[in-house]
Parts: sequence; C-alpha cells; structure tokens
Amino acid sequence: MNVKLAADKAGRVKADLIVIPVAKGKESEGAVSELHQALRKAVAARVKKTAFKAEPGKLLSVQASSGDLVLVGMGDADTPEAWRRAAAKACAAAKNVRAKAVAICPGAAEDVDALVAPLVEGFLLAAYAFDKYKSKKKDRVPAPRSLLLSSPSLSVDADARAALKRIVSRCQAVCFSRDLVNEMSAVKTPSFLAQTAEEIAEAGGLSCEVWQGERLREERMNGILAVSAGSRESGALIKLVYTPQGKVSKRVAVVGKGITFDSGGLSLKPAGSMMTMKLDMSGAAAVLGLMKALPSAAPSVEVTGYIAAAENMPGGRAQKPGDIITYRNGTTAEVLNTDAEGRLVLADALCLAAEDKPDCIIDLATLTGACMVALGSRVAGVLGNEQDLVDALIEHSRQTGESMWQLPLVEDYVEDIRSGVADIKNIGSNGYGGTITAALFLRSFVGKCNWAHIDIAGPAFAEKDQPYTPKGGSGFGIRTLLSYLAALS
Ligand code: BES
Ligand code: MN
Ligand code: ZN
Repeated sequence: MNVKLAADKAGRVKADLIVIPVAKGKESEGAVSELHQALRKAVAARVKKTAFKAEPGKLLSVQASSGDLVLVGMGDADTPEAWRRAAAKACAAAKNVRAKAVAICPGAAEDVDALVAPLVEGFLLAAYAFDKYKSKKKDRVPAPRSLLLSSPSLSVDADARAALKRIVSRCQAVCFSRDLVNEMSAVKTPSFLAQTAEEIAEAGGLSCEVWQGERLREERMNGILAVSAGSRESGALIKLVYTPQGKVSKRVAVVGKGITFDSGGLSLKPAGSMMTMKLDMSGAAAVLGLMKALPSAAPSVEVTGYIAAAENMPGGRAQKPGDIITYRNGTTAEVLNTDAEGRLVLADALCLAAEDKPDCIIDLATLTGACMVALGSRVAGVLGNEQDLVDALIEHSRQTGESMWQLPLVEDYVEDIRSGVADIKNIGSNGYGGTITAALFLRSFVGKCNWAHIDIAGPAFAEKDQPYTPKGGSGFGIRTLLSYLAALS
C-alpha cells in the first residue's frame, strides 16, 4: 500500500474516504473544524441528530459530495494503542465502502508527528488478509490502495518521510511473518524456512548459514535430529546475521522455535489440538520477520537470528519416550513426552547462541499450552535469568501493544525436571507450572548469558479477528523486538 504524509487541513484533502478521529465530548472539534463550512455544518448536524458520542471505536458516517467522511470515536484515550485501534476502524470502514484512497486526518496538534507510527501500523496491519487460497474473487475483500495522513501541524520533510518508510517496512515484516504462519505445513517445511532465510539475507545484505542432513550430525544438533527423526522432512538449523553499518553498540541473539507442524510425535495430539499446529513455527516466523526488517530499521546492534526447524511427526523412525538426547554442551535430556518437542530443538540453538557470548539471548516460542492457561490467548509469558532484560522487554511491549507478562523461574521446580537416568527430562513431574518447567529446561543451555524466553503460544495466532490482527497468524513479537533493539542503539 502506498502511504503518504501531507500538511493540509482536512478540508483540502481529496480521498474516497476521509476519516477523522474525534475525542469524547469533542465530536465537532479536531479536524472537523478544518472542513469547509458546508461540510462542517453537515457533520455537526449528523452528530446532533444521531446523538453521536465518540466512545472508543464508534463510527459515524457522513455522505458528502466531495467523498465519504467517517468520524471514529477515540473516547478519552490518547495512547498509541488507542490510535492503532482507531486506524484499524478506519481500515474496516474503508473496506466496507470499497474505498481505494483513504485519508486519516488527526487534526492539528503539537505532537501529531508521534501519531504517524500508530496510525500507519493500525491501518496496515488491519488491512492484511491471507486469501491466496480463495478461488473466488468475491471472497477476497480488496484492501485500500493508498493511505494519506494529513494534519496542518504534521512534519513532511525528508526526515519525516524516512521515518515513515521505516514504519511501513516494519508493518510489511509483520505481514510477511503472518503469511509464513498462515501458510500450510505441506508448503512451509524446514527446507522452505531455510530457503526463505536465504532470500531475506540476499535482499537485505545479511549473512546466512543453513545446516541440514549430515552437517546437523557433525555439529551435534541432536535435539533437531531427534525431533526430525519421525518425519520425512529434514530438520534445519538456520542462522542469519545482521551487522550494522557503523559502530556496534551491543550484540543480541534472537532464537525462534520452528516446528513446521506439531503432531505431537508418538505422544500424538488429539485431532482437535492438532488443527492449528501449523502455527508452531511462529517464533521462527518472528525471527525471520525481524531479520527482514533490520536493514531498514538499522539499529546499531549486531543481531544474530537462530531458527531451530523441524517437523514433529510419528513416523517409523520417530524418537520414543525414554530416549535420551546428548546435547552439544554435554547436557543429557530424557524425552518422556515427544509432544514437548519445542524445548528439545530450542536447546540446540541456545547452545550455539551461548557459545557466541552475546550481550543477551532472547527466544520466542509457541512452547506451552500452560502459558495460555495462565495468561489467556492475548498475553505472552516472559521468563528469564536477568531482571533488567525482562523489564525492558515488558516495557517495550507496553508501547507496542504486544502484551507480555512475567512468570517466575521458580528455583524449587528444578527438581521437577530432574531425570533418574539423564541430567534433565523434558516434562515436569507434576502437571502444574508447565511454562516454568519448560523455561527451566531451556535455561540449562544458555550458560552464563543473559537470557529471556518469550512464550507466545497464545498471542502468536488470533483465534478470532482482533482490532488490527485478523484471525490467524499475528506476527507477534517483531514490533517489540525492534523497539527494544532501537533503544539499545
Ligand atoms: N506447540 C505446543 C504448545 C502449544 C499449544 C502452542 C497450543 C500453541 C497452542 C507444544 O509443543 C506442546 O505440545 N506442549 C505441550 C507440552 C506438554 C507435553 C508438557 C503442551 O502444552 O501440552
Ligand atoms: Mn508439542
Ligand atoms: Zn510444539
């Protein structure tokens, strides 16, 4: 979509649909007062006649000869999230009337430049649709073709345009990540993820390395090999490196779980639980989206992305409950449930990341159903061995609207993953605190590194439409990581 900025009053804007966000009790103020007199009066009359109150998300449309106009209620809120949601409403209204060119006029205000990011994000992320498998044109709702943000006090110089470009490119990275999650597992095998990584590297000037087959054995990627054993698809360890142009301020490793389908393996899932298990590479999709966005975001941080990719299937050579994996760092793990496979493959990637001694390691994984029991489907769980890192991630998640909440790494629960025959086992002794025992398992592989684990089992996939996240893969995590990395610069 083409996105532009203008420093015009609403009355001078030409579009198929003009959207004006209005605060509660100020339904005829803001950009409404920038309209030409006749239209301004028409809006005021409609507001009065329909007793329109600008509650959050409420819409009021006014037909005018110059094009359609919609007021979108903001309530009393003036947060980035409120602006994102208002822009998402604008997008829904535009789809409704099949508007091609849409303008949002937030009105004149001193800090209007700060609204560009949330407005563009809300609009572009809401415009996303995964419809490549819809055979009938009528089932594909055309998204608007252009978005104009216009306010008399908006900066429209070269700096503002460069900032806009970065915002649009991070939205594209989120949508790219959603596409990967929404794609079917028959297509997005570990080899497909590896090829996608190579394409991202090529386009963005990153370095990329892929280990498959014999190389995985040589490098003792025994978790990926064990999980892949029951599948006809080879697993893969994928590494991407972004190196900043100038001075390197920090070095960060980001690790993603890339289970391209999780059947559970021999500890087979029931049919109902399997229906959405193409989502189980959402951590990998977030890492790929992040790496794709980095050249444009250009933080002064060296970022290494690792993806542990495998298909978890119950084939004839599948790993069996009771099998023991010996990891690259010497740790041995007893596999008692093959459906707790995410931690098995992540362990390989965490070993590699830790060997490189970065300033911190952040992993993203659709790791446990228990995290959804604890926090529901909209909030990710964060656990880690360094409180400042956890705090920083949660603080940035507040800004981006990607909700995260800390869960404790309870030291006493270490005994729940102690194995009788190996060092650790891949499930806890009792059924409780599954997110915590999974994180404690991961901790065995990060050495002395600062590390945070983000369990995105809930928010990675929207079960129903959300304000700016249509049903399906959400691209969760990318915006928060970009925000975190920008602050390290
Ligand atoms: N991929 C699942 C976790 C998951 C569940 C993600 C639902 C998204 C939605 C993971 O591999 C898994 O199966 N975890 C098991 C762990 C258990 C066997 C210890 C779970 O949560 O039931
Ligand atoms: Mn599983
Ligand atoms: Zn899984």
